[in-house]
Amino acid sequence: MRILMTCFLCFAIPVLMHYMLSATNALSLSSYTDELALLALKEKLTNSVPDSLPSWNQSLHLCEWQGVTCGRRHMRVSVLHLENQTLGGTLGPSLGNLTFLRILKLTNISLHGEIPKQVGRLKRLRKLSLSNNKLEGEFPMELSNCTNLHVIELYHNHLTGRVPSWFGSMQLILLNLGINNLVGTIPPSLGNITFLNVLFLSWNHLAGNIPHAFGKLSELKILALNSNNLSGEVPHSLYNLSNIQNFDLGENNLFGSLPSDMILAFPNLEGLYVSGNQISGTFPSSMSNLTELQIIDIGDNFFNGPIPLTLGRLNKLYSFNIVNNNFGSGGAHDLDFLSSLTNCTQLSRLLLDHNKFGGKLPNLIGNLSINLKQFKLAENQIYGVIPEGIGQLIGLTSLDMGSNSLEGSIPNSIGKLKNLVSLVLQANKLSSNIPTNIGNLTILSELYLSGNKLEGRIPFSLRYCTQLQKLSIAENKLSGDLPNQTFSYLDGLINIVLSNNYFTGPIPSEFGYLKQLSILSLESNHLSGEIPKSLASCISLIGLGLGSNFLHGSIPLFLASLKSLEALDISHNNFSSTIPFELEDLTFLKILDLSFNNLCGEVPKEGVFSNATKVSLIGNKNLCGGISQLKLPPCFKKPSKKHKRSLKKKLIIISVFGGILISFVAFTIVHVLTRKSTKLPSSPSLQNRALRVTYGELHEATNGFSSSNLVGTGSFGSVYRGSLHNFERPIAVKVLNLETRGAAKCFVAECSALGPGNHSLSLTKRVDIALDVAHALDYLHHDEDQVVVHCDIKPSNVLLDEEMVAHLGDFGLARLIHGSTGHSSKDQIDSSTIKGTIGYVPPEYGAGGPVTLEGDIYSYGILLLEMLTGKRPTDNMFYENLSLHKLCKMKISEEILDIVDSRLVMLNVEDETWIVENNIKECLVMFAKIGIACSEEFPTQRMLPKHVILKLLEIKHKLSR
Ligand SMILES: *[C@@H]1O[C@H](CO)[C@@H](O)[C@H](O)[C@H]1NC(C)=O
Ligand SMILES: *[C@@H]1O[C@H](CO)[C@@H](O)[C@H](O)[C@H]1NC(C)=O
Ligand SMILES: *[C@@H]1O[C@H](CO)[C@@H](O)[C@H](O)[C@H]1NC(C)=O
Ligand SMILES: *[C@@H]1O[C@H](CO)[C@@H](O)[C@H](O)[C@H]1NC(C)=O
Repeated sequence: MRILMTCFLCFAIPVLMHYMLSATNALSLSSYTDELALLALKEKLTNSVPDSLPSWNQSLHLCEWQGVTCGRRHMRVSVLHLENQTLGGTLGPSLGNLTFLRILKLTNISLHGEIPKQVGRLKRLRKLSLSNNKLEGEFPMELSNCTNLHVIELYHNHLTGRVPSWFGSMQLILLNLGINNLVGTIPPSLGNITFLNVLFLSWNHLAGNIPHAFGKLSELKILALNSNNLSGEVPHSLYNLSNIQNFDLGENNLFGSLPSDMILAFPNLEGLYVSGNQISGTFPSSMSNLTELQIIDIGDNFFNGPIPLTLGRLNKLYSFNIVNNNFGSGGAHDLDFLSSLTNCTQLSRLLLDHNKFGGKLPNLIGNLSINLKQFKLAENQIYGVIPEGIGQLIGLTSLDMGSNSLEGSIPNSIGKLKNLVSLVLQANKLSSNIPTNIGNLTILSELYLSGNKLEGRIPFSLRYCTQLQKLSIAENKLSGDLPNQTFSYLDGLINIVLSNNYFTGPIPSEFGYLKQLSILSLESNHLSGEIPKSLASCISLIGLGLGSNFLHGSIPLFLASLKSLEALDISHNNFSSTIPFELEDLTFLKILDLSFNNLCGEVPKEGVFSNATKVSLIGNKNLCGGISQLKLPPCFKKPSKKHKRSLKKKLIIISVFGGILISFVAFTIVHVLTRKSTKLPSSPSLQNRALRVTYGELHEATNGFSSSNLVGTGSFGSVYRGSLHNFERPIAVKVLNLETRGAAKCFVAECSALGPGNHSLSLTKRVDIALDVAHALDYLHHDEDQVVVHCDIKPSNVLLDEEMVAHLGDFGLARLIHGSTGHSSKDQIDSSTIKGTIGYVPPEYGAGGPVTLEGDIYSYGILLLEMLTGKRPTDNMFYENLSLHKLCKMKISEEILDIVDSRLVMLNVEDETWIVENNIKECLVMFAKIGIACSEEFPTQRMLPKHVILKLLEIKHKLSR
């Protein structure tokens, strides 16, 4: 017993000592309860994740812990504030032990779980802020015991249940329960919270009426009940709340009207938001006297009548949104109020669409605020011309005047609106040409001009709108060929809608640059030719409309590789082929219209063909088979044979192409399919050079390019898996369809001659050739996975066909590089294995640098300089200190005529006398500059193909004037 007592003392004394030493007064013991409570709280708050809240440990005084503030006298926790961290836990019950807490602010820390009822023990709590978390459940009733609580912020959580009526007995100043899942009605008792300043119940599922009792909230400054399911009439009592600054009842089902005397109702009003209800009546002219008013948002209601002409007094007005009402009468003076609005210098949004405004647009709309960003007056009855003055609104980012009766031409001044992102003028009566200076709108993303009477061509300058994503100019009288190069610049295009015009000529192969294109609608034009193979690259296509044109040829197989396709219309053309069975594989295809062509052979039965409502085949006389609902005659041969025949056709296409591969465009580039090893260890001699194999060998290796070996169809061709004799690893064979147009043509000359046949090449022709080659390079250098570096650009590898279109040939030295940037790749290819051709090989290859895209650019630059001067880089006149590049650099500008090919100068000056000499000289200088810029010594200083193309086009444009 004695021993036990002694031992108890040995144990108890140190414990007591600890308290006595560390605590100088009795209150510290209470401070210790705060510490225990916080540690327990941490456990829950952090979900027991070890490294969270590291400062919350006993080696530091709790008053120094992160987010903890203590009262100066009692050293108890008075503020707990944690924000913008990922703690991910819950609020534990020990929260209730922090009885000295005045402010609890735990926002955006991924809290979940319920608000613990122990919060009711925090009698000193003034502010409870738990916003931006994932708190669930209902409000604990115990909260009503926090009699000092003035501020409750619980917005943006997952709270459920009703708004408790006992809030009405609390002395709140701010109650914010927005963005939760609260249901039921709003308790009228909230009207008893005499000193309430802010009531925020927006974005819940509250129903029923707005309580009349809210008229008692005389201190209320912000009332936000928007985006609920509230119904009934807006209580008139609300119009007694003379302290209201922001009045937001938007997006409910409320009816009623605005008070006629707004100045009596809301003399301090800054924001009026009642859009998205059924509120009716006229626009109170007394609104013009609310000098603090910044935002009028009354769209989507049943308002009617005129807009007062005195709104100009609202000199703080920032946003005026009255869309989708019945304002206006279709009369000539409906828009007179716009002149008053020119006094509102802060005005940034002016949204008038979907009303009944008539009349003409006054030219003084140009005097509206320079800060105006959005100006929308679509779907009214506005007539007359678009005033030139519109060009003064240079802050505009969005202009929508669609669906009115505007006529005349689109004013040239539109080109001054350089900040425009969206321009909508569709469904009017606009005529004349699309102004060329539309090209000044370089950040334009949406251009909607459909449904007008526009004529002429698509302006060349459209290519400068390089941010364009949506282009819709259907249903006009536009004509001419579709501009072929323009689309290669607009590679962000998602929608192109050009239907119902008079466009002629072929479908530009440049559409193939548009990797994000999802809608291409060219129906009802006069387009001719075949479907360009390059469309195979438009892998995002969802809708392809080519119906009602003069297109011919076969239905290309590659359409089956456009896996996202949902609608395909090639009806009313002259297509004559069988229907590829591969179309069965388009799993998303819902509409396939092949009607009124000359299609023949067996109709497939699977996929889209299995549902007669999705396929239209009428007007094709020689089809057979298909499902019985199609009521076509049976086919005589067995289906399997037919299937084989369509495969055979495909082979022929490829083998013709393969022939080209061997003789000119060669080469299939071989690399090992397994990603990790691009080297071919089994055969060291193969390691550093491209395999030279015959077409026959490739044919065999890929089972005759069979579809079962097809790995994928990429942006510039198809890739087949295969295996070669004497080569143990699998190979990938990439078939490049470089220039499909030229594939079946014979090449008549090499560019090296520069004067094939009896005629010299004019400057224009040389620029065209330079462009063709630049496009080819751009094409080779832009593939997402694999970039082709040609490595031997020189005149004798530029082949001209009968139509003098240049093609890039001999890919015998070409190399594949991973990644679209080429130069930053890890698996670099050492240039020491590349011979190239003296004079055209970039200097860095001589030093053993890696094979790069810039290397090709160098060779290309030399090629241009040779085309310009008629001198080979290996000419005797060049020695150590004088190269073709240096010569041109020396002579550029003033002395350019001394060095250019004499045939070039003579020819143009004498024969084409309509071109002034200065113009030609300027073009020669520009051409020389490109050549020089491409053949700079340092790879990083060389011009990009994209810029080369732009510059060459500029020359071409100059020459054609
Ligand atoms: C909180 O206080 C209660 C009652 O005073 C006590 O039983 C409990 O142990 C305390 N919890 C913590 C974690 O301090
Ligand atoms: C927390 O994030 C909000 C929103 O981004 C920000 O306004 C606030 O200043 C941040 N607070 C702290 C303490 O970083
Ligand atoms: C509120 O506090 C009183 C007195 O402390 C207590 O009797 C009552 O049960 C508490 N109510 C709730 C709902 O916690
Ligand atoms: C609170 O408001 C309700 C409804 O408006 C009312 O019936 C009640 O008497 C009020 N209670 C107090 C304490 O003022």
